[in-house]
Amino acid sequence: MSRVKIFDTTLRDGEQSPGVSLLPEEKLNIARLLEKLNVDVIEAGFPIASPGDFEAVRLIANEIKDVEVTGLARANKKDIDRAWDALRNGTNPRIHVFIATSPIHMKYKLQKSAGEVHKQAVEAVKYAANYTKNIEFSAEDASRSEPEFLYRLFEEVIDAGARVINIPDTVGYAVPHEFGNLIKGIKENVSNIDRAEISVHCHNDLGLAVANSLEALENGASQVEVAVNGIGERAGNTALEEIIMALYTRKDYFDFEVVQDTTCIARLSKMVTNLTGMLIQSNKAIVGDNAFAHEAGIHQDGVIKERTTYEIMDARTIGLKENKLVLGKHSGRHALRDFIAELNYDLSEENFEKIFVKFKKLADKKKKLQPIEIEALINSQLKKKNNIYELKYLSVNTGIDLLPTATLKLEKDNKVLEKAACSGDGPIDAIFQTINEITGLDIKLQSYRINAITEGRDALGEVYVKSSIDGKIYLGNSAQTDITEASARAYLETVNKHMYYKGER
Ligand code: KIV
Ligand code: ZN
Repeated sequence: MSRVKIFDTTLRDGEQSPGVSLLPEEKLNIARLLEKLNVDVIEAGFPIASPGDFEAVRLIANEIKDVEVTGLARANKKDIDRAWDALRNGTNPRIHVFIATSPIHMKYKLQKSAGEVHKQAVEAVKYAANYTKNIEFSAEDASRSEPEFLYRLFEEVIDAGARVINIPDTVGYAVPHEFGNLIKGIKENVSNIDRAEISVHCHNDLGLAVANSLEALENGASQVEVAVNGIGERAGNTALEEIIMALYTRKDYFDFEVVQDTTCIARLSKMVTNLTGMLIQSNKAIVGDNAFAHEAGIHQDGVIKERTTYEIMDARTIGLKENKLVLGKHSGRHALRDFIAELNYDLSEENFEKIFVKFKKLADKKKKLQPIEIEALINSQLKKKNNIYELKYLSVNTGIDLLPTATLKLEKDNKVLEKAACSGDGPIDAIFQTINEITGLDIKLQSYRINAITEGRDALGEVYVKSSIDGKIYLGNSAQTDITEASARAYLETVNKHMYYKGER
């Protein structure tokens, strides 16, 4: 049985999803769970893109010992230097160099001839080889590139030191048989391909990312690039959970060894949803709410008699189990610490203490706390670290035939800013209006969703907000017992992300 390497790019391509921006510490928590799941490579960011990206790659490279960590670099010295600066103290660093190779990208985007691109790619790989032997080279838009051009280029970049040759279907244009043939052609026509691994990186614009990746594996690729929940540019990347579970469930067909701990999948999916604010659809394969739900009577009857009549996977395989663990107001620090470890979060002592205080407050309001509620507390604490505006006070007045009003106090740079505003549209709109007035920002609400995260009247309400500020999209989410507070915090998170990326902190 051969082994497929899983290269996870949730923290790089996944983070390029519109509105998603993760803080270094949030990324580190995801990386730790990816390490536990036993992926082979974690792409932690694009170090030259921003100081936050640099810091995340540095942090993850330094902390994660059992998995290779990589950072992306365009094919130029500055990008490669920056990537290496972030990676250099890691145990297993890899530099990932890329350049576009399709006629359309070379002509319009790079405005370079094929010869110039060829030369630049080879020089960049040679330059990276001064730092490490572990180099991956990607031919961006490979699926729309001339195969003959790719063959000759790959031969030279392998001679220059590339150990992994990545074939991206950057715009999700390929179809499975065609993509498989491209990989086969590379195996047959690149004379020194035995010195490199073939990797694939597929986008999901036609909903074919997973199918294309599987076809590539059958034609000689041995590394597949994936993102949790399939997040990524536009329609996203090949979904990690779908690839792993396809290989696992259809071992009989694929004959590839699966060495990943599949029981981490459900937790990882939840963590990524919570930290990115990107909700997944209920019918999403493997990790959607309905993935193991049966509605039709005939199906329910079949499953009761024999689960495998309608279930090809056991929910426990991905780590979905009845969670017997619940915490209450009598639970102490020790129990909370164990509970948090079970959720796979690794927190600083300072963060833990703050969460403990909030936990005690919440446990006073609610009898029993579920894991998902503890996770909500963790997330809001992790997000706090880089907050520029802090919510200090909120009061809302609303009712039938009343003009809804909201009064808020926000703290910024140790100063408290207070304002009241009204709105004819309702209490949530009044809150958002007040935040707009205090911050002086032109924030446009794009979407607003709310759902109860557990059952019962005392459930936490979780609000997901998408806003646009200065033409850029931001996502925010917050779960609280009071939905007006959750709304204010979710909206404010989009403001804080905007300030953070504008460089205010
Ligand atoms: O989609 C793509 O081509 C990429 C490369 C940078 C690998 O993300
Ligand atoms: Zn990509």
